Amino acid sequence: MASPTRLDKAVSQVTDLSRSDAKRAAKAQRISVNGEVVTDPAAKVQTSDALCLDGGPLLKPGPCYIMLNKPLGYVSATKDPEHPTVLDLIDEPNKGRLHIAGRLDIDTTGLVLLTDDGQWSHKVTSPTYHCEKTYYVQLADRIEEAAVAKVARGIWLKNEKRRTKPARLEILFANEVRITIGEGRYHQVKRMFAALGNKVLVLHREKIGDIPLDEGLREGEYRLLTPDEIASVKK
Ligand code: URA
Repeated sequence: MASPTRLDKAVSQVTDLSRSDAKRAAKAQRISVNGEVVTDPAAKVQTSDALCLDGGPLLKPGPCYIMLNKPLGYVSATKDPEHPTVLDLIDEPNKGRLHIAGRLDIDTTGLVLLTDDGQWSHKVTSPTYHCEKTYYVQLADRIEEAAVAKVARGIWLKNEKRRTKPARLEILFANEVRITIGEGRYHQVKRMFAALGNKVLVLHREKIGDIPLDEGLREGEYRLLTPDEIASVKK
């Protein structure tokens, strides 16, 4: 909470109440500041003030870090006119503050990180930090052994002026690979295999940096990150 700030704003930041709900709550004498009922929604409050709603203390929320196992058909956006979004799968107070640290296409499944910590997500997504992302891929055609060296060298994508950064390709079966990339260009994995004359049929993100997708999460499920997982990005 910024300090000082309006009461209705401060309350809406730490609850699911909208600004107008918080205004109504103040006028209905449901909010107290340091033990005194305050009915003026525009009253200024400080970070250090103790706010209560209906007698219950409102805690200043700490930053929030979530891993989600994204199913097919969900868009990596907070709002979409047509499709369900990854945020629809999250049931947390104040989920409107969350943003996505590295999007997946609607037809890609797997690990998505959500947070309200902009500095942390910058380290996940900015090429400067080279946070690696690992994907399991099923391909339409057999992959040739030579693709490993081509991916390691970097690939020219259509309409791009620079090769992709060196990446690692592991051939699992004739049509199945695991690829690890350190950047996140638009549709990068699909375009890399298109440039190799192949086509991605199934794409699933398994890992971001040192954070693997929790195998205990079924599609559509999520959990909070552990302190170690959060710290692994700050290294
Ligand atoms: N690369 C893609 O082509 N799509 C994704 O969703 C992620 C990486």
